[in-house]
Amino acid sequence: MAPSIEPRAVTSAVLKGGVGKSMLTTNTARALADRGHRVLEIDMDPNGHATTGLGFENEYQTADQHIGDVMLGDRAADPEDVIVDTGYGFDLLPAHRTLENLNVELANADFGTVRLRRFVVEPLLETTYDYIVIDAANERNKISDNALTASLNMLIPLTPGSGLRGFRRTMERQIKPLREFRDLEILALVPNRIKRRIDHRTTDRELIEGLCTTENLSKKVPNFGYVSPETFERIDAGEWDGPFPKPGLREDTDIERANKDAEVPLAEYNPENDQLGSFDELAAIVEHGGVVRE
Ligand SMILES: Nc1ncnc2c1ncn2[C@@H]1O[C@H](COP(=O)(O)OP(=O)(O)OP(=O)(O)O)[C@@H](O)[C@H]1O
Ligand SMILES: [Mg+2]
Repeated sequence: MAPSIEPRAVTSAVLKGGVGKSMLTTNTARALADRGHRVLEIDMDPNGHATTGLGFENEYQTADQHIGDVMLGDRAADPEDVIVDTGYGFDLLPAHRTLENLNVELANADFGTVRLRRFVVEPLLETTYDYIVIDAANERNKISDNALTASLNMLIPLTPGSGLRGFRRTMERQIKPLREFRDLEILALVPNRIKRRIDHRTTDRELIEGLCTTENLSKKVPNFGYVSPETFERIDAGEWDGPFPKPGLREDTDIERANKDAEVPLAEYNPENDQLGSFDELAAIVEHGGVVRE
């Protein structure tokens, strides 16, 4: 490990389905690997979309040992027994179709919310991996509690329309309750699936402006998603010349196809895709422990 690296685990989570949590997890893991780090992705969502989206349907459906065996202890399985090499420069601890049962088992287990931390993240972070990126489900349960307790850092994807509401719900139901016990850091609020103009009153603008003009939130928005209040004012006053900013992770057919059709990270699907720079910034945010405003 290079001396400048501060090992870190981070979870992609928000209490809202289909907003890009898994997409963010996989492409951030890929971008961290691209920057020369040893990276593990952990799929902690029983729906297994991050696992199947990387082509590991077989592990998800039929593996006889899985992350549940690691977390339930008794040395039923070690992380090394269930981790796979994705072939894309990072490793994956896959989800399994039976993970839903794990919620019940963890509820009955001693210290059921600190097991991912104890059995996976603590032994592997720094020694084996520089960064661990975890994909969480869109509900608050024992499994997602494990993910957040193990990482203590979050990446939060938000989409136009319901993004800010979803964030507020996540704050109330997931972040604040955990903050009673541990420091939980939001590394980045990531506007995703942005496609419309921001010089008109669109839901896309509402999300970007809502994030960028709210104190405490604006500093969590990556540079690729940030539009300053002054820029909005100049646009509205008709004083903006030149192309309008196109903030956020954009709605992008390559992102969709990489995930659904090809089952590979975006960088494998199209190495020329112009969104890759945004994932590189997300990797830098994970390295640094927060956004550095340009
Ligand atoms: N920026 C984008 N452009 C195009 N498609 C996207 C984008 N972000 C996500 N998608 C697609 O939207 C779908 C949902 O994304 P993803 O599975 O990452 O969301 P999720 O929050 O993990 O959902 P779930 O709650 O079901 O686990 C996927 O098919 C994904 O490929
Ligand atoms: Mg998902």
